[in-house]
Amino acid sequence: MKIHTALITIMLGLSAVSAGAKDVEYGKQLYEANCSQCHGMEGDGYGVNAEDMDVMPKDHTDTEEMISRTDADLFKAIKFGGKAVNKSVLMPNWDKNMNDDEIHAVVAYLRVLCCSNEE
Ligand code: HEC
Repeated sequence: MKIHTALITIMLGLSAVSAGAKDVEYGKQLYEANCSQCHGMEGDGYGVNAEDMDVMPKDHTDTEEMISRTDADLFKAIKFGGKAVNKSVLMPNWDKNMNDDEIHAVVAYLRVLCCSNEE
């Protein structure tokens, strides 16, 4: 499953097509496991931890804001944390917990979340 997803990611990278459904589904699982406690199960920024935080977690369903970020911006924020993109350190870095393929899958899911009506 993991190898399969990695292959799809590589193939997509080479042909520069938008992410496949498998990637998105995998990204969603990773998001629900790792990100939802702050960003919310629906990705709207209202996770259970959010009310105690000085800076609100990003609302990933905010289309207007999210289309202003490139995939590379999102990747960088996730991999190296908020500080790497001049955002709050409350956004943790995930480079110790996720590999690049997994982060790409999460970015693919964020794109569906923010900017598409498909689930
Ligand atoms: C401990 C709480 C917490 C967790 C867990 C968390 N985030 Fe965040 N995240 C934040 C906060 C707070 C911000 C807002 C930082 C700011 O605006 O200064 C943020 C911002 C972001 C941004 C930057 C958005 C922008 O404005 O460009 C991205 C992308 C992001 N988070 C993705 C994720 C992903 C994907 C995960 C799971 C792998 C995750 N976050 C897990 C708290 C969290």
